[in-house]
Amino acid sequence: MNQDELKALVAQAALEHVPEGAIVGVGTGSTVNCFIDALGGIRDRIRGAVSSSVQSSERLAAWGIRVFDADEVERLPVYIDGADEIDGRGFMIKGGGAALTREKIVADLADRFICIADASKRVEVLGRFPLPVEVVPMAAAQISRRFAQWGGSARLRAGVLTDNGQEILDVHGLSITDPLAFETEVNQWPGVVTVGVFARHKANLCLLGTPQGVQTLRF
Ligand code: A5P
Repeated sequence: MNQDELKALVAQAALEHVPEGAIVGVGTGSTVNCFIDALGGIRDRIRGAVSSSVQSSERLAAWGIRVFDADEVERLPVYIDGADEIDGRGFMIKGGGAALTREKIVADLADRFICIADASKRVEVLGRFPLPVEVVPMAAAQISRRFAQWGGSARLRAGVLTDNGQEILDVHGLSITDPLAFETEVNQWPGVVTVGVFARHKANLCLLGTPQGVQTLRF
């Protein structure tokens, strides 16, 4: 199976975790696109979705799935999203698609985070994938210098503005051995909107697509 087939496999498997009549939290990315397409097939069995990006909202709407604003709901039973990396404890790097801030907001509304990913995303230590950080532009240089003190090399993602009108720094060369402490510290830096380490909002479960089938990891 190629990577696209593995993504489709886990997207289909995620339907089992969608409660009848629910409003579902929906993430962003190519794996989630497969999930939205699968969700389209059962759209009569859900009330709708809260989405983490304009891109996902448009795809949901194209399937006739009602998209609620985040402030229209108090809780979601489940949030389903991909990841750029996931470790053995359910900690993740996210934001490759620049949607990390809204992803964290929707994840915060949800009782459970279910990560859907192909096996290439499973790592021992987070950091091989350049860490996305959404920043207020006037703070980008200062934040880059702070990462340099930690051995990271931050590069502005050229030509990209997030759905929130901010910029993305991609930080290369990090090895994030304590994701919770890392996220807590970077969150304090002025001008950081969201750091792409998901430790406080880690996955509760990961459906990992492998050539042998879907592997379920519980954290
Ligand atoms: C979007 O900002 C990201 O957090 C995605 O969840 C992540 O990049 C995974 O995307 P793919 O499913 O396209 O690999």
